[in-house]
Amino acid sequence: MRTIDWNEESNSVMLVDQTLLPKEYRVIECKTLSSLCEAIKSLRVRGAPALGAAGGFGIALAAYLSSAKDMDSIMRDLKVAGKAIVSTRPTAVNLGWGVKRVLNALSDAYDVAGVRDIALYEARAIADEDVYINKLIGKHGAKLLEDGDTVLTHCNAGKMACVDWGTALGVVRSAVEQGKEIKVIACETRPLNQGSRITTWELMQDKIPVTLITDSMAGWAMRQELVNKVIVGADRITQDAVFNKIGTYTHSVLAREHEIPFYVAAPVSSFDFKGWEGSVKIEQRDPDELRFFGSEQLAPEDVEVYNPAFDATPMENVNAVITEKGVFYPPFLLDEVLV
Ligand code: MRU
Repeated sequence: MRTIDWNEESNSVMLVDQTLLPKEYRVIECKTLSSLCEAIKSLRVRGAPALGAAGGFGIALAAYLSSAKDMDSIMRDLKVAGKAIVSTRPTAVNLGWGVKRVLNALSDAYDVAGVRDIALYEARAIADEDVYINKLIGKHGAKLLEDGDTVLTHCNAGKMACVDWGTALGVVRSAVEQGKEIKVIACETRPLNQGSRITTWELMQDKIPVTLITDSMAGWAMRQELVNKVIVGADRITQDAVFNKIGTYTHSVLAREHEIPFYVAAPVSSFDFKGWEGSVKIEQRDPDELRFFGSEQLAPEDVEVYNPAFDATPMENVNAVITEKGVFYPPFLLDEVLV
């Protein structure tokens, strides 16, 4: 199934619980808004485009759960729901974008039933468009890959981070579909290991050759000429920087040092046209993510921890941004991406 979808029979949100991968592939059902918010917060559903769909479906879910009988009351309920959803994770712009897009579509509704219908229609449109957009990103990005390339990637910007196909891994998938032989080096992506748990699993399912390394091995792999290109996804792209999983900035510096192209693949919905590096709130996560691995203690229980979930890569370190509208080479104007 898709990473996230709507269950028509029970009017609930279905999603693959990514915290269980690769050990177990389990689809869970979120029947309440609080269970969906918990799923977002604990990264059962994660990755910027998947969060966009989660935001949209979250508003549809709230519309179905609301007992309001009139327009003012249901709109009030949905605004409260929107705030609760957006507050779960602050960095990926897509989450708020998905919520806002569905709320904005409701201006066409004239009764409570219409609100439910339109909310679900719009949320589904976000999910369907995401797949289409990722295929376009893949088509544009595949032109940058040559037969025989080895691509280093960080975190998971694949189908599990989207509704399907993927952004960074979508580019790899499209190139492979065109008959190019592409290998991937997946960085494990401490502390939550989206690279080792999800990226490797996803690529192995598709029989795309993948080698796992620790994050600290990336520089040496580049120096050994084991990497031709770096492709990562993005949680937010401002005029001056790309926000992505912590560790991305380090890879960009290493790629620059080794003259390896560093590409970012992301939908236009990940662009933050008003933001800049200093204006973005970076999510700080639970210190125990570093002190423990599951129940295994890795550090003194009370050691001080710094655990930002994301970092910012300055645009100077980015060779191109691959979007559904084409490939853009910095410095570019955000306006030209929109056209
Ligand atoms: O904390 P996560 O797992 O949600 O972080 C995800 C990433 O950083 C991805 O690289 C990004 O969302 C791009 S997904 C296509």
